[in-house]
Amino acid sequence: MDRVSRRKLMKMVAVAGSGAALTTLVKTEQVNAEEIARMTTEEQAATVIPAARAFGGQHSPKPLPFDPTKLKGISEKLIKSHWENNYSGAVKALNVVEQRLAAMLGEKDLPPYIYGDVKREELVRTGSVVLHEYYFANLGGDGKASGKALDFIKQWFGSYEQWEAEFKKTANALGGGSGWTILSYNLHTGEVHNYWAWDHMHNAPMGYPLLVLDMYEHAYHMDYGAAAAKYVDAFMQNVNWDEVNRRVEEMRLRK
Ligand SMILES: [Fe+2]
Repeated sequence: MDRVSRRKLMKMVAVAGSGAALTTLVKTEQVNAEEIARMTTEEQAATVIPAARAFGGQHSPKPLPFDPTKLKGISEKLIKSHWENNYSGAVKALNVVEQRLAAMLGEKDLPPYIYGDVKREELVRTGSVVLHEYYFANLGGDGKASGKALDFIKQWFGSYEQWEAEFKKTANALGGGSGWTILSYNLHTGEVHNYWAWDHMHNAPMGYPLLVLDMYEHAYHMDYGAAAAKYVDAFMQNVNWDEVNRRVEEMRLRK
């Protein structure tokens, strides 16, 4: 079988690039990395599918930005389990999903419903990774609201106490189930709301997260069993308002 006819097979395999971060895809399983290196530029163009950064699959977990032994009312054991199993697991899964999407780039006969399943996983895992990183980053503080974030809260909720009551009520509405409670500045409406999110994919469009609370049972069950409200109270004592204020500034710069 000559090289041209082998290309017509269009069977996708992934081969490791020569130190490149991204996966290189070739249109036939008969061609390996050494063969690609020996090809002319024209042959490579006809044989190699350009690497897609969107499907790089190279995400790494971010370390906890606080000392997990120092939180008030949330144990080190719970935080470490949450970080290792749920968050890091989501990072690994996102990498697998992106690599699978890369491999599917040239699968002409792939049924759309199979592709849809993997695209759904891309959304689930991306949501989990992003929201967990926001969640961990806004822990480790003294729980005392301050600065521009507090000004925002007073402006849109009348008082800190009224905002906190609504934030907790929104969180407790997710108790026993799953989801996220997110104080957001909505870049479209220009309003600040406590948004309810049933899962990793459930976000108000254009909501810029300022404070993120994980309400999945894995975030509290080890310490509080089914008493979700006690976990919400503990979370409020550990909010890092410096990080929330940093997000307010970041959001203003991006607007
Ligand atoms: Fe979580």
